[in-house]
Amino acid sequence: ALRASFAVRAEKPNKGLETCFQPQASFKVAILGAAGGIGQPLSLLIKMSPLVSALHLYDIANVKGVAADLSHCNTPSQVLDFTGQAELGNCLKGVDVVVIPAGVPRKPGMTRDDLFNINANIVKTLIEAVADNCPDAFIHIISNPVNSTVPIAAEILKQKGVYNPKKLFGVTTLDVVRANTFVAQKKNLKLIDVDVPVIGGHAGITILPILSKTRPSVSFTDKEVEDLTVRIQNAGTEVVEAKAGAGSATLSMAYAAARFVESSLRALDGDSDVYECSYVQSELTDLPFFASRIKIGKEGVEAIIPADLQGLTEYETKALDALKPELKSSIEKGVTFAQKKE
Ligand code: NAD
Ligand code: LMR
Repeated sequence: ALRASFAVRAEKPNKGLETCFQPQASFKVAILGAAGGIGQPLSLLIKMSPLVSALHLYDIANVKGVAADLSHCNTPSQVLDFTGQAELGNCLKGVDVVVIPAGVPRKPGMTRDDLFNINANIVKTLIEAVADNCPDAFIHIISNPVNSTVPIAAEILKQKGVYNPKKLFGVTTLDVVRANTFVAQKKNLKLIDVDVPVIGGHAGITILPILSKTRPSVSFTDKEVEDLTVRIQNAGTEVVEAKAGAGSATLSMAYAAARFVESSLRALDGDSDVYECSYVQSELTDLPFFASRIKIGKEGVEAIIPADLQGLTEYETKALDALKPELKSSIEKGVTFAQKKE
């Protein structure tokens, strides 16, 4: 894990950064949209993973320079670049994990759903290539609106006859990362210990932190619950507004996506204790896709953990009821798009 890599460095301060990057496994990871705001720092973080032997970087432009730059880092993985649709198939062949941060980001005043028209087509095209070239890979979808792009991906994979719901993940790790950070700050807790499950989806009120299930156990006033919930739900917008037209979260997203990739690789490597929140096909509620804590194993989603939805507070129960219609319509919008005849 990245965390482990840094721990080794602390123990061997005089040996140089590279001593933490002894190869430990040899997985291949592809990043589609690798030259973008998320793609570049995410590629760097994955280049630092001792579990990765090959890093395949794909974009429609500017990826050659990113790959040349990264390839000079003396960490184990080999970096290869692929530009444009003609090279996409080769980028994907033989990879274990495909991460998709391709697509346009928000500007102030926009919702994530405002990105649908452009990003739905981008995700559709990329998933068709994934289906044709690496149907067994774990697929991590970052492109917004995640609430719709994951159902789109599922439909496209179904049409290609290769859908495995256990291997399709909407990346909601940033919501957990933010919830952990904000709760630790508010309650003066040691950051490393804090774990807040975030369920539902990844847009506005569909992002629902279950603060009552915070570990370690901590009590909140009603006002703290309200303030923290709203801050976590609006955290993406907080960054969009601060960037004032220059895009949305990229660095914290890269950090969160790298954590989710690392967790997936640990699971693929046989670690039997890997849990993350993710937006996946689910029977936890009456919605076909839902984010919750999941157990990840070698074959993908090994279990969907119901515990965080049990014994909810009144506030959380109401918020869960309130998010369902919006999440349902975002899922249906994605499915309708993917089923539309050209
Ligand atoms: P960006 O514009 O900086 O980068 C996007 C990259 O995608 C660009 O390099 C672009 O060339 C590439 N691209 C466009 N069309 C492509 C295609 N057909 N194939 C391959 N690559 C293509 O944007 P960004 O800031 O990196 O954000 C990317 C996406 O991630 C946005 O949709 C954003 O909303 C989303 N996002 C999601 C989360 C989350 O928590 N899931 C967090 C932050 C951002
Ligand atoms: C986020 O949560 O930061 C991303 O979904 C990007 C956005 O548009 O807010």
